[in-house]
Amino acid sequence: MAVTATTQTPSPKHNIEAMREAFYARIAKKDMAPLWKVMKNVVTKEPVTRTKPHVWHFDDVKSLVMESGGLITAEEAERRVLILENPGMHGESRITNTMFAGVQMIMPGEVAPAHRHVSSAIRFILDGEGAYTAVEGEKAFMSPGDFVITANWAAHDHGNPSDKPMLWLDVLDYPAVNFYEACFAEDFEEQRQATKREDGDSLAFYGSGVLPDGTAATDRTPIINYTYARTRPIIERMLLAGNIDPRHGARVRYANPVTGGPVLPTMGAALAMLPQGFHGEPYRSTDGTIFACAEGAGSTEVDGELLQWGANDVFVVPPWKRYSHRAATQSVLFSISDRPAQEALGIWREGT
Ligand SMILES: [Fe+2]
Repeated sequence: MAVTATTQTPSPKHNIEAMREAFYARIAKKDMAPLWKVMKNVVTKEPVTRTKPHVWHFDDVKSLVMESGGLITAEEAERRVLILENPGMHGESRITNTMFAGVQMIMPGEVAPAHRHVSSAIRFILDGEGAYTAVEGEKAFMSPGDFVITANWAAHDHGNPSDKPMLWLDVLDYPAVNFYEACFAEDFEEQRQATKREDGDSLAFYGSGVLPDGTAATDRTPIINYTYARTRPIIERMLLAGNIDPRHGARVRYANPVTGGPVLPTMGAALAMLPQGFHGEPYRSTDGTIFACAEGAGSTEVDGELLQWGANDVFVVPPWKRYSHRAATQSVLFSISDRPAQEALGIWREGT
């Protein structure tokens, strides 16, 4: 049967769509927009993340960081750091939406000058021995596995009087600070701070189940360096005692010894020992987590993707992606996330 062309008259539906579009165009000129057009994107049923699971292998990282040592001095760079950029957020200087991570190197004889900033920083020492971080007058010499804290506005500088390069993982909360547009920073005239306390004073004063008289509770830990020499035997002892979480292994959380709370209000860290053959139960939580392997080798399955890791490798698990660890040999994993910030805001969730 032949089809004859008919003149289309606008349907009521077409009419209302056209009226809506015209309305949206008019309100846009007054800096307004209809929520109903974007509601499902801004109030999602489950967390949506741009963070991708990823592993940075230490062999690559070390050789590239060493190469950078021939291109720029620590003093010129202020901090000679290669950023670990999440592949889902290239160019944004972040490993998760809220955290920066990088690997810093300091060569023998170099100094990274004193400064301070609102962003809190932690260092987890990967390689080398005998460089120091001076934090508010305490010069903390660092060894692999040590966990060093530079809290909000704490003056800090680094130096390496040893004869070997030293590398560590830096993690800062500045993407979160910048989200609030609340960043301040300043440099100091002098490159190095005057030393006011002995190396290890803060750990000795506050890290032994006693507290000096008059110690006040603050939102950050008074300990500068949680040494591996002190923390590793604890998780080893937990492992031997069978105190092994089926998801995380024999794990301790680094705590502020005065309050029992996290070491910083914005970031929290943990150290776990996984026995050889460990096959963790699946776990997920809303805090995207950075892991660094201090010892051993294994893999972590994240949302169906397998990340293989060995000593000094760094890997990241995005928020609310299910993951489980497997240890090929007895392994130690350091981890850090923004969990304390989420808990303080009442938004942290965990699940299986
Ligand atoms: Fe800094």
